[in-house]
Amino acid sequence: MENKIEIIGKNGQKLEITKAEKEKRANIKKVNDEFKKINAEKSKIINEQELWKYFFEKPKRNYNKYMYEMLEFPEYLMYNNENVDKYCGKWNDFFGNNNDIYLEIGCGSGNFTVQNAEKFKDRNYIALELRFKRLVLGAKKSKKRNLNNILFVRKRGETILDFIGKNEISGVYINFPDPWEGEERKRVISESLFSKLDIILKTDGKLFFKTDHEQYYEDVLELVKALENYQIVYHTRDLHNSEKANENIKTEFEQMFLSKHNMNIKYIEIKKIK
Ligand SMILES: C[S@@+](CC[C@H](N)C(=O)[O-])C[C@H]1O[C@@H](n2cnc3c(N)ncnc32)[C@H](O)[C@@H]1O
Repeated sequence: MENKIEIIGKNGQKLEITKAEKEKRANIKKVNDEFKKINAEKSKIINEQELWKYFFEKPKRNYNKYMYEMLEFPEYLMYNNENVDKYCGKWNDFFGNNNDIYLEIGCGSGNFTVQNAEKFKDRNYIALELRFKRLVLGAKKSKKRNLNNILFVRKRGETILDFIGKNEISGVYINFPDPWEGEERKRVISESLFSKLDIILKTDGKLFFKTDHEQYYEDVLELVKALENYQIVYHTRDLHNSEKANENIKTEFEQMFLSKHNMNIKYIEIKKIK
């Protein structure tokens, strides 16, 4: 039997691994460190005149100040499509471990994913958001907590196939997405999303959905019933008075719906069964 070597893991725990595993880890760490260095250098080089190119067709007169602040968090925030797409199928290299990867679509200012990353250090989290300020706030919270298992990415949920590989994701969170009343075809949770989850989500992986919106809740239940490779494994109209209440991590919108409007939160867990 091959001799095992004792090493200290990323989170300070003792691990016994083979020499080959140790070398593999060292290589992953090297790729990761190089990426972070390049990204940090690029961020410094890109000046205020050039940054717009990542987001707009042509220069504008005024920019959101958070657009520039995004440059300050190269380890926690990616906005450059080229960098993001390069990691398609290789996100474990980015995180420097083989832990499961969870994705949040429309993360707002990141409370939910930051708290998850803090609680589950042996999981990795990628959080998608479009708004500059919310991305910066999420990155700031992650840096303050010195987290090394979280990344914010400025990408639309609809584009996941551009930068996430086959079976790369263990769970997807969608919390309080816009219900698009009257324009329901624009909703993030749609048949088209499930056809993408067919590719990126592992078998037995789950989609977790929270909403304040009764009709969105009903529509998702109906939609999933018609899909043969997905199964609703849990649903409730009142998450905060359910058996899941204790483990629930509140999002910013959830907090607002509870405190200002005293609303019942609807919740669905959907499992990919094949
Ligand atoms: C109603 S907010 C909910 C934010 C957060 N999940 C929460 O519960 O507090 C919806 C968020 O999704 C983001 N968003 C909307 N469409 C998106 C899309 N197609 N891809 C990624 N994020 C999106 C918005 O910018 C917004 O921050």
